[in-house]
Amino acid sequence: MRDARRRREIRDYYLGISPDEITSHLTPASFDLWDSVARYRRELQIGARWLEIGGGMGDLAAAALDHGYDVLMTDVQAKLLDTAAARHPRLRTRLRRADIFDARDVAALAAQGPFSIVAAVGAVLNHARDQSELAHGFDHLVALGEPSSLLVVDLMLSEMFPGHPASVWADFLHVLPGFGDLARLTRASGLHVLEAHSLYHRYPPTATFDREFDERMLRLFFHKRIPARPPRGAARSLVRESRRARPAPRRRVPSPASDPPGTRRAARRRSRA
Ligand SMILES: C[S@@+](CC[C@H](N)C(=O)[O-])C[C@H]1O[C@@H](n2cnc3c(N)ncnc32)[C@H](O)[C@@H]1O
Repeated sequence: MRDARRRREIRDYYLGISPDEITSHLTPASFDLWDSVARYRRELQIGARWLEIGGGMGDLAAAALDHGYDVLMTDVQAKLLDTAAARHPRLRTRLRRADIFDARDVAALAAQGPFSIVAAVGAVLNHARDQSELAHGFDHLVALGEPSSLLVVDLMLSEMFPGHPASVWADFLHVLPGFGDLARLTRASGLHVLEAHSLYHRYPPTATFDREFDERMLRLFFHKRIPARPPRGAARSLVRESRRARPAPRRRVPSPASDPPGTRRAARRRSRA
């Protein structure tokens, strides 16, 4: 009986909206890092202090400076920091050596905070020795963000590789968490996933790895909220909220003359979320 009502509601909802609203290929999609960060900063009142972990040659950190962020870039390799300074001299005073898996390095970094945006892109966390170290690294990223901050994290996940291995070797070993591990880490820190999309790159063979290597990873935008952990009883209130968020009965037929289809669809999507 309940199932029949649910199916009827779904049918009535989808038959009541226009084809451009039901068709997902028209959903506006933006995978631009800078657009996304700027939008979340506006919507969530996030500051401009940008901390990059594992920044490598400094290209992203330099671009962040160009976008007006107050940047601090770290890497575990002092030689890479030298390269970053040579490529982007304006980063020179903004570079620190730090190992994201080392609690002492992270405490020293935190003393230079608070940080509004913490980025660890390019699968930095996959450089962990094992799953436990990866989890510590993830917790360190979260701890480095201020109470309302944005985390941008790339992760190669086990399920993105054939056979779902626990690690994968390209010129060196990468530890691969699974979707389940990622979900546990996200929940344990009370993070809100704002955005996730996947990156793909095919590497040519190298001296140490004689085959092409398909690298896939998720790019995730998290909001660290205040309080970081949901209070007791939050699960129950979330259920009530999701019931309230069910599609509302249709009130008006959008008029093609009044607004363009993309705008209408985006606005309607937002109200249903
Ligand atoms: C694939 S590169 C990504 C560089 C840069 N983030 C980008 O996306 O262009 C990974 C970087 O992580 C750094 N890295 C590896 N282990 C690290 C650790 N334990 N702590 C901090 N950085 C680390 C490496 O030195 C390297 O610069």
